Order: sequence, then C-alpha cells, then structure tokens
Amino acid sequence: MHFDTIWLNARLATLDPSREGLGIVEGGAVAARDGKIAYSGTQSGLPAGWDAARRIELDGRWVTPGLIDCHTHIIHGGNRAHEFELRLAGATYEEIARAGGGIVSTVKATRADDEDALVKSALHRLDHLLVEGVTTIEVKSGYGLDTDTEKRMLRAARRLGKERAVEIVTTFLGAHALPPEFTDKEKYIDLVCAMIPELASEGLADAVDAFCEGIAFSPEQTARVFDAARAAKLPVKLHADQLSNLHGAKLAADHGALSADHLEYTDEEGAAAMAKNGTVAVMLPVAAYTIREKQFPPIDHFRKHGTAMAVATDCNPGSSPATSLLMTMNMAATLFRMTVDEIIAGVTRNAAKALGRTDIGTLEAGKRCDLAIWEIERPAELVYRIGFNPLYQRVWNGK
Ligand code: NIG
Ligand code: FE
Repeated sequence: MHFDTIWLNARLATLDPSREGLGIVEGGAVAARDGKIAYSGTQSGLPAGWDAARRIELDGRWVTPGLIDCHTHIIHGGNRAHEFELRLAGATYEEIARAGGGIVSTVKATRADDEDALVKSALHRLDHLLVEGVTTIEVKSGYGLDTDTEKRMLRAARRLGKERAVEIVTTFLGAHALPPEFTDKEKYIDLVCAMIPELASEGLADAVDAFCEGIAFSPEQTARVFDAARAAKLPVKLHADQLSNLHGAKLAADHGALSADHLEYTDEEGAAAMAKNGTVAVMLPVAAYTIREKQFPPIDHFRKHGTAMAVATDCNPGSSPATSLLMTMNMAATLFRMTVDEIIAGVTRNAAKALGRTDIGTLEAGKRCDLAIWEIERPAELVYRIGFNPLYQRVWNGK
C-alpha cells in the first residue's frame, strides 16, 4: 500500500467510538493518502509492503484528531472592552443588553465594517485557534441582523477557509437579537424566515441557529425559525437555557437539532430529550465564567441519560472573548467538572457530531486526515495546563 505521508512511533488517542475512553493505541502509526486517513492503528499492524513518500518519526508523541471548535462568533466588528469595565463596576450581562449594549452594540460595529475588515480582524483571532491544533471551526453570523450584513458576515466566514488551511462551517444566526430599527419581534422573525431560503440557495449557511431567551426570542418564535430552516433543508442548533429555563433544550431536541448550546438552566427532561434525539450538548464554560454565572450545566443529567457533550470557545466580543480552545478545555474541567476524556471527546468526536459531520473528529481510516500532534506525556496535559500550548505539529487535510 502506498501512502503520501506516514507518522510513525506515535501514541494515538483515536476517539474511535467502538473503543473505550479515548481509544488509545500505543506504538501507533497514522498514514495519509489523498488527504484522508488511510491507516490508523498499531505500527505492527501496518499492511505488508507499505511505502510512503514522506515519513515522520514522532518518538512517542501523542496524536489526537485535529481539534474542532464547534461554536464561535469569530466574525464581528469592534470589541466590548468598555462593557467589560461596566461589568467590573457591577452591571450584569443582562442589564447591559437591556440598556441597548451587548449584542446590539456589536451589530453597530459589524454593520460599519466591509467584508475585508471583517476578514482581517477575524484572521487575527483565527490564528490563535490554529496554533492550538484546531482544524475545523464553526462560525455564526448574527451581528448583522439585516440581509446585507448577515450575508457579508457569512461570506467573510467562508473567506477565512480560503485564507488559511482550516475548514469553516457556517451557521446563520439571524435570530440573535432584535435589531435597533425593529420594535416588533414577530415582524423581525418574518424577515429572518425570509432570509433563510435565500441564504440556503446561495450556499452561504450550513445550518441555522437562534437565541431563545427572555432578552432574545421566545420558544414560539424560535420554532418558526426552525420550521423555515427545515423547509430550506438546513439543520438547526440553538442557544438554549443560558440565563433562564425556557425549555430550549427540549425544544431543540424536539426539532431534531444538531446541538443545543450553553444549557446552564436546562432541566433533566431537557437532557433526556437531547439524548433521545441525538442532540449534542455544547458546553461553553468561558461564557459562564465571563458573565459570572453561578449555575452550571447539568453534567450529571447528561451523563445519566447519555447526552453527547461537546466543548467550544463561543469566541465572541461580549460573553466569551476567548481565542484559546485549550484554556476553554481547562475551564470545562475546573468550572463544569467534566472529565479529561469527556473534554477531549468534546473537542473532537462530539464536536463533529454537533456539526452533523461523520468525516472528521476521530482517527479512523476514511476520515479526513486532520491531526494535532502534541509534545505531552499523557492526554490530561491538554486539559490541566493554563496558557501553555504543547502543540508539536498540526495537519489539515493530510498536510
Ligand atoms: O453565545 N448568548 C447569545 N449569544 C452569544 C453572546 C453574544 C454577545 O454577547 O455578543 C453567546 O454567548
Ligand atoms: Fe454563542
């Protein structure tokens, strides 16, 4: 068998779902051909007579699937450092949003930026994720809230994938907040529902998301957005139960959502519905930390019911100004009490599931060859360190 590249003498965390825990293989090898994994397993199990154009000796270093950040708002104008100062002085995230700050202040800044400016500022943030071994990133719109700016955000997101060796998965989040020129939420939802088929036909959005919350949209309004997405054959996701329990997790699950995200106020019924319908629970610990949330997602209910859990940065200028997935993983452990195995699965296999993807997220033959190679002795080092990056090499699409 001929390979383009082979990585030898590696320790693999394959995340193969048919194996226990991280699916560890000692004395392993991974080989790529035409951008895909052609072999992943023990070195001794390599097919007889193999050869490779390029051989890389890893001297026992660890290999995981390339990391996947499955929830970001990395495209946005401006920043909200001023609101951070207001929060330090005692204001809450919700108070700032209700006073016309929050998401709406980023909408003003985003509308003022052209596509090049949006790409330029996002690339700076994106590069911080890439040096940590991230190979796929989901990017949401939702700071335009009018057709032109939402499209501009999604086009800018797609361009990130041309500027760098990374895959960008886009999500339309028109139902993120009520834009300043509207007073009637129902009328704005009419516009969001009208945008969906247009974005779908232009290939700008891979999924549709909404923010179901008192300061955003009701469960009924969210359901209207989901129905429009279904009609346009786009999968859905939801910002659910972040500040209160509007039963967003159950709503998302009942609509067959790929994921429900945040979930600090989700109850057991919501967790069970998500497990039943295969909706992934995306944990966003930096957002909980930043807004000083005291209630954390019901990890025990997710474990009890077998709800798949993912972990993501939520990179955005308000609730989560984070560009480190590794630091986010540490917070998922220390704040949310997830285990090392849950967290590593949460940024690989389960993050892929949250994006509806079966071709990435594990080290199995046939998947895209996205690898993160680490200078570590044990996988827990990826979670326990704070502000240290042990990446040795990053491989995207076999290169
Ligand atoms: O995921 N929860 C709603 N949306 C974003 C926050 C966006 C912002 O504050 O700008 C989130 O936390
Ligand atoms: Fe978000």
